[in-house]
Amino acid sequence: MTRILRLGVNIDHVATIRNARGGGHPDPLRAAKAAAKAGADGITAHLREDRRHIGDDDITRLCRDIDLPLNLEMAAIDEMLEIALRHKPHAVCLVPEKRQERTTEGGLDVLGGGDDLASVIQALSQAGIRVSLFIEPDVAHLDAALALGAPVVELHTGAYCDAPIDARSTQLDRIVAAAAHADRIGLECHAGHGLTFDTVGPVAAIPTIFELNIGHFLVGEAIFGGLESAIKRMRSLMDKSRAEATGERSA
Ligand code: PXP
Repeated sequence: MTRILRLGVNIDHVATIRNARGGGHPDPLRAAKAAAKAGADGITAHLREDRRHIGDDDITRLCRDIDLPLNLEMAAIDEMLEIALRHKPHAVCLVPEKRQERTTEGGLDVLGGGDDLASVIQALSQAGIRVSLFIEPDVAHLDAALALGAPVVELHTGAYCDAPIDARSTQLDRIVAAAAHADRIGLECHAGHGLTFDTVGPVAAIPTIFELNIGHFLVGEAIFGGLESAIKRMRSLMDKSRAEATGERSA
């Protein structure tokens, strides 16, 4: 049986470029519309506490004007919970957030920070929002995510993508094992962070992963060949790899 592999396009860094000059160009909403045209299944945007890229108005416009489901990445704090409950996006991915970090450097502390997370997961779920937890690809972290009541996890692929080529397979093995464990314990499994044309194939091949969220590389590639072209190529690499892994033909 073929399992669906969705592509969520993260448009944060379209906003990073816009904010460098403080005007309205390039508009993340326009990027979201281009992503939809190019075959994205969803749009992902991270509203950070410091608003360094995506802003509140972007979230309002994405919820109002985009047909694709929005996956809102956010920290599990009261301010963000209130925003999510007001907008009711299709999904929320809870991520750890540190002001000093350049990007989301690791997964959530599901082993140590459970109490705060549980109440946010419950409030979001009660509002009908699908909640995922961004975690390290580790069995103990998956078990903790399940115990916290999250239906979905997103595995952090940063260590795999950043590893030197000769160390990549060790990191990939962690992701493969974690995705298999997620399936066994009934968690829907997603993955993302740092994925590129070169690294996406082996992750897309894992049959128990249902969604990849990819942003920075696509926005960077857009400089050279356009956003739609970059997304189409990513989509086709994902589909080819999944089809080869499952022994089926890609569409
Ligand atoms: N998934 C999560 C939870 C993230 O925080 C990010 C980065 O914002 C991504 C996926 C996408 O990572 P990248 O921009 O490196 O593709």
